Amino acid sequence: MLHLLTLADWTPQQVAGALDMAAAIKAAPQEYAQTFHRKTLLMIFEKPSLRTRLSFETGMTQMGGHAIYYDTRTSPLGSGKESLADTAQTFSRYVDIVMARLFKHVDLEEMARYARVPIINALTDLAHPCQILADLQTIREKKGRLEGLKLAYLGDSNNNVTHSLLVGCALTGMHIAVGCPDDPAYAPDPDVVQRAQQVAAQSGATIQVVHEAAAAAVDADVVYTDSWMSYHVPAEEKDKRVALFTPYQVNAGVMQHAKSDAIFMNCLPAMRGFEQTAEVIDGPQSVVFDQAENRLHAQKAVMVTLLREHERDGASAHA
Ligand code: CP
Ligand code: NVA
Repeated sequence: MLHLLTLADWTPQQVAGALDMAAAIKAAPQEYAQTFHRKTLLMIFEKPSLRTRLSFETGMTQMGGHAIYYDTRTSPLGSGKESLADTAQTFSRYVDIVMARLFKHVDLEEMARYARVPIINALTDLAHPCQILADLQTIREKKGRLEGLKLAYLGDSNNNVTHSLLVGCALTGMHIAVGCPDDPAYAPDPDVVQRAQQVAAQSGATIQVVHEAAAAAVDADVVYTDSWMSYHVPAEEKDKRVALFTPYQVNAGVMQHAKSDAIFMNCLPAMRGFEQTAEVIDGPQSVVFDQAENRLHAQKAVMVTLLREHERDGASAHA
């Protein structure tokens, strides 16, 4: 069954198809007003969210379906009374599709193993594929293409968003340069880099991991950063992280190294004065709220893609 646990689950064609679908839905949402008639989305959250929760729930409503917000703190799963396997087998008897924001990616994989409906990763410690599909949609809108562009990512890179950007760029033929401390605790997971390199070998994309902000940002079409204090990071790590990541802050000086028409991106939530200056995120090159809007359109396209595939599987199983 097709899920979206990481972007590496999808082929370049499936990603391109979802991006085209997201653009079509954005252009004429009323044509999709009944696409999810009588469909139910279960939304499982172990962590906070603004964009992911609101965009999935609104998306389901706008397409004629229903979404259930399920906070694991009030669940048998969260209180340790029920296993992931039993939870997944149970929800598969009720709902049509599930998105889950979990701490551990291995838990999402376990859930998918036992589920009989498509599972969407709404952020784990490893990956944030929905975010990156919306980001690719945003870049394509702003630049007219993806292939051959250069994206520079700066900051905390042992990070779900960095990992999904590595694979998303590789799938779409975008060059990516990651600028981060020279320490495995803050650099991308080597397995993810290796997987992205395999994908990039097919698309012609290049992947660099460097330790100087200017070296990553040079000639970039897109400059991207993410929080230094991801949801799972304990508050007491803040001072250490600020000291480590300050050389990778996206400020006017760093933007000077990128192309003059480069766009600035952050998946949000953002802290002004930390991973980027207020001048950059509130300035004319910033597209952060277009990214946030595109979560709505891209996630609708993800759900259409997965439900269509699931219905095809069901039809062939009954043929
Ligand atoms: N970018 C993103 O996933 O935001 P939320 O944490 O608010 O969902
Ligand atoms: N890396 C961030 C992304 C938030 C959308 C986190 O995991 O908190």
